[in-house]
Amino acid sequence: MKLKGFTIVVGVTGGIAAFRAVDLVSALKKQGVEVYVVMSNSAQQFVGPLTFEAISGNTVHLDILESPPGWKFPHLELAEKADAVVIAPATANFLSKAALGMADDLLSALLLGCESTVLICPAMNSKMYRHPAVQENIKKLNDLGYSVLTPGEGHLACGDTGPGRLPDIPEIISELEKDLTVNQDFNGFTVLVTAGATREPIDPVRFISNKSSGKMGFALARAACERGARTILVSGLLHPATPPGVQLVETATAREMYNEVLKHYSTVDVVIKAAAVGDYKPKEVSGQKIKKESGQLVLELEKNTDILMELGQKKNKQLLIGFAAETENLEKNAVKKIQKKNLDMVVANNVHIKGSGFNSDNNMAKLLFPGGEIKELPLISKSELAHIILDNIKKLK
Ligand code: PMT
Repeated sequence: MKLKGFTIVVGVTGGIAAFRAVDLVSALKKQGVEVYVVMSNSAQQFVGPLTFEAISGNTVHLDILESPPGWKFPHLELAEKADAVVIAPATANFLSKAALGMADDLLSALLLGCESTVLICPAMNSKMYRHPAVQENIKKLNDLGYSVLTPGEGHLACGDTGPGRLPDIPEIISELEKDLTVNQDFNGFTVLVTAGATREPIDPVRFISNKSSGKMGFALARAACERGARTILVSGLLHPATPPGVQLVETATAREMYNEVLKHYSTVDVVIKAAAVGDYKPKEVSGQKIKKESGQLVLELEKNTDILMELGQKKNKQLLIGFAAETENLEKNAVKKIQKKNLDMVVANNVHIKGSGFNSDNNMAKLLFPGGEIKELPLISKSELAHIILDNIKKLK
C-alpha cells in the first residue's frame, strides 16, 4: 500500500495492450490511489471509456477542449493534480510525439505541463520496438528525464515473438513506488553539481573541449533534487534536458565555471564536481578566424585554475566530492587527488572501459575515501550511480 494517498494519471494510447491498462487502474485503486484516466482517440477503439470510468471512479478525459465543470484547462489541471503520470501502453506513435514535445491532443499536452514523475511503458511489435527511430525516441525521452520501462519479451498479439509486451502490472506498480517514495534525506541541504565539458576558445570559431556529455552530472543533480536538496547545477554548454526543480547555470570556459562555482560556494553544503574541466587553454585567443597557412600552426597553452583544488583550500563546512577520469592507474591517481585537493570522497572512473565514462548512459566507478576505504561498483546506469554516491555522501554528513 505504498502508493496510498497519491494521485496518478494513467494515459492509455491505442495498442492491443490497452485492455491491460484496466488491470493497472484496478491495482492502483486497490492501493488507495486517486486515478484519472486519459485516453487517446485510438485507445478508445480498443477499450471503451466507460470501463475505465467504472474502475477509476472518475470521469475519463478524452479531449483537450472538453473541460469538466469548474476546470479551465484539462491538460494543466491534470498535470497539476498528478503526483505521477504513467503511460501504459505507450505506442511507437506516442513515443515519437512525446520525444518531439508535440501537444496535439490531451495526453501529449498534459506531459508538457507536467513537472511530476513520468513513467512510460512502451508496448508494440518487436520489429517496431527495435527500429532505430523508436530507440532514438526512447533515448530522447530518457534524456528529458522520463522513466521508460523496457517491454517484456514473449509471444505478441501480432504473432511475432520478442520484446514488445507491456511490462507486467506488478513491475509498473513497483517502478511507481520507487519513483514516488524516494527518501527525502537531502531535505534542507544545498548541493552544487558541476557537469559537462568546458570550452576554451582558440579563435571566434574554434575551441578546445572534451567528450563529456553532462550525463553523469545531470543524473547527480536530478537525484539530489529528487531527494529534497536545493540543487544548483553549473554546466558546460552541451548538456541533457534540465531536471525539473534544478537551478541551471550554463558556463563555457573553465574560468566562467570557476566564477560561478565560487559565487555559490559559501552557501552550499555539498559540492560534487563531475564536470570535465579543461586543464589548459590557449595563451592567446585570436580575435579573427586563424587562416590556413603553409607549415605547422603551434598553439601555446597555459594552465587553467584547478577549481576543485581551490575549493579544497577554501573548504569550511562543505563536503567536497571529486571525480577522477583515468585511463590507467585508477586507484593510485584517485588517491593522489583526495590528498592534493582535500576531498571527502572521489569517484574514480576508468574512461577506457567500453560502455562506461564519457557520453554513455552507464558508468563503472570506484568510490575512494580519505581513510583508505574503497568501494568497487559494477557497470550500472548513471542514475543508479548517482543515488549510490548520494547514499555515501549522506553517511559522511
Ligand atoms: O559527462 P559524461 O559524458 O556523463 O561523462 C562523465 C565523466 C567521465 C566526465 C565524469 O564521470 C568524470 O569523470 N568527470 C571528471 C572528469 C575530469 O575532469 O577528471 P580529472 O581527473 O581530470 O579531474 C579531477 C577532478 O578535478 C574532477 O572532479 C574535475 O571536475 C576537477 N577539475 C579538474 C580540472 C580543473 N581545472 N578544475 C577542476 O575542478
